[in-house]
Amino acid sequence: MAMQPGDCPRYPFDWPSPIDQPKELAGLHDRPALRVELPSGDTAWLVTRHRDVRALLTDPRISKNRNRPDIARMTPPSGTPVKHFQNQVDMDPPGHTRMRRLIGKAFTAIRVEGLRPRVRTIVEDLLDGMDRGGTSAELSAAFAHPLSLRVICELLGVPPAERGQLAGMTAPPWEYMRELIDRKRREPGDDLVSEMLRVTDADGARLSETELHWWATVLLLAGYETTAHQMLSAVVLLLCHPEQLAALRADPGLVPNAVEELLRHQVVGTSLSMLRYVTEDLDVGGVTVPKGASVIPSLECANHDPAAFAEPSTLDVTRPATHQLTFSYGRHFCVGAPLARVELQLGLEGLLRRFPGLRLAEPVDRLRRRQDPFTQGFVEVPVAW
Ligand code: HEM
Repeated sequence: MAMQPGDCPRYPFDWPSPIDQPKELAGLHDRPALRVELPSGDTAWLVTRHRDVRALLTDPRISKNRNRPDIARMTPPSGTPVKHFQNQVDMDPPGHTRMRRLIGKAFTAIRVEGLRPRVRTIVEDLLDGMDRGGTSAELSAAFAHPLSLRVICELLGVPPAERGQLAGMTAPPWEYMRELIDRKRREPGDDLVSEMLRVTDADGARLSETELHWWATVLLLAGYETTAHQMLSAVVLLLCHPEQLAALRADPGLVPNAVEELLRHQVVGTSLSMLRYVTEDLDVGGVTVPKGASVIPSLECANHDPAAFAEPSTLDVTRPATHQLTFSYGRHFCVGAPLARVELQLGLEGLLRRFPGLRLAEPVDRLRRRQDPFTQGFVEVPVAW
């Protein structure tokens, strides 16, 4: 049954399977903003429409400073270290704007394009390994995680011998990153960390020690897990939609477009970590979200808004979906989006080309799902070919 006005559903919604949408999405866009209960038990306003989510993410009355005592807690106090993360640097303008400008100077489109041949080599190397291993594999361990780890390590300049210790990390590798930064300061290379040490803004100012440490660590974490889970989500979605898979195999030139649609339709993300704070009363589609409230611009709800995407519950790799919001929008738009796109495009293209008979080795409803309110991805994806 669709939700009724006044309901306060739990958030994140449960994605029952890659082919079934959360039941809460039915009729949700009739309500531009509604109150939801978070895993902590606190409540926040969920913003559901594509247009409103974009407006919110560029609105100066919205803050991402999570140090306020009255902001909603995302998870119970013993939960993940995400809150601790936010405490390291200023997440609002002008401090955040200054840091993003410096990061942007270092993490350029040219740098991402320069990595493309390396990404291709890493993809082929992992596919060779799968091929040598027989006719089945577990895709998370054999492909998705090693791919994103190797690529982010290439980007940051983590030497190959040290990458193993970062695989499967359960906590942010603060100490390791501090040591890496010290080393890059002594022996600079052509990697991103060395470049982040070099860049200066118009006044000659640099990233502070704390800022550099925080951003380098976040780049590693954000670049690793998120991309791996999106890759798994994309493959599972395609394998569950044979006609879409066939269209892509028939025309590999569709892959970049398909990646946007697979990101839009993904079953991995929740927008819990998008939590913001409202500094003045806001009108969201006729609903007043009051000053002092916590608010979640929901990327997955926006991506399923029928006003932005016709028949949003249909996966269609030919639809124009570049306005999908899985990388967010506005001030905090994902720094790594261009790199993630390269990985997803080359990874999917390679997988489909090398394994024409690729299929799930287990029924889709038996795939183990992560019990994580920040990333509802797959723990394992066994495949065969
Ligand atoms: C498909 C993979 C990825 C997805 C879906 C994704 C998604 C996101 C989202 C939704 C945000 C914005 C959060 C907000 O508005 O509060 C974000 C920010 C960020 N992402 Fe990504 N990301 C991905 C890959 C990457 C990669 C590969 C890197 C690094 C190379 C990266 C680094 C970052 C960083 C540093 C931020 C913080 C930006 C800021 O606050 O200004 N991400 N990402």
